[in-house]
Amino acid sequence: IRDDPPTASRYIADYIIERIKSFEPTPENPFVLGLPTGSSPVLIYRYLVEKHKAGEISFRNVVTFNMDEYVGIPREHPESYHSFMYKHFFSHVDIDPANINILNGNAPDLEAECIGYEEKIKKFGGIELFLGGIGPDGHIAFNEPGSSLKSRTRVKTLAYDTILANSRFFGNDLSQVPRMALTVGVQTVLDAREVVVIITGAHKALALQKCIEGGVNHMWTLSSLQLHPHPLIVVDEDATLEL
Ligand code: GLP
Repeated sequence: IRDDPPTASRYIADYIIERIKSFEPTPENPFVLGLPTGSSPVLIYRYLVEKHKAGEISFRNVVTFNMDEYVGIPREHPESYHSFMYKHFFSHVDIDPANINILNGNAPDLEAECIGYEEKIKKFGGIELFLGGIGPDGHIAFNEPGSSLKSRTRVKTLAYDTILANSRFFGNDLSQVPRMALTVGVQTVLDAREVVVIITGAHKALALQKCIEGGVNHMWTLSSLQLHPHPLIVVDEDATLEL
């Protein structure tokens, strides 16, 4: 528990840097990092970029897999997760573009795209550290309430609450928010050797309480993290209101 979003974000950025450094990645044995979008990780990316610019961390031997992507908006759309990642992170660090993996929400065969993504993760030996955030309903990636805890990368219809929450990125116009997304599954996240989650703000307090004090429950998909051998949840004071 940290005081506020900046200190929680800095803690996670420092933690990720330490993990990458101690792993000593090489081109043959890269560090495989799972990454989220949303407003919560923005500060984490900013600190990672700062540390990179200060010469303290290189992402040359890091391979990334993003959690999710909208279906049906062009990759160049300012609110696509592809655009988000380049804007906040990839354009500012030394990562090799060939090492960046983001689901293609415009693939002609979405199911094949999802199967291929899982295979590629496997080919890299699995994800070393998956960073995530949650929605106010406790969803991780786009694993909306009711998602199977055994789910893998697939097409998902977004919950109304998520469409509502994300409408702020689309000029508060509900009709502009995509209705579907591609997302890694709950099991894809759980397969990572370590999962790190940032949760900040009073609007996430109920979700945090349900996910860590309640039982493992597919209606609050982050609660599945209780089954993980190496989870780390970093929160600010406001998110602890219901604990
Ligand atoms: C979307 C993303 C999630 C993210 C959530 C919360 O649903 N698919 O990965 O955790 O938004 O976003 P925010 O951090 O903006 O609250």
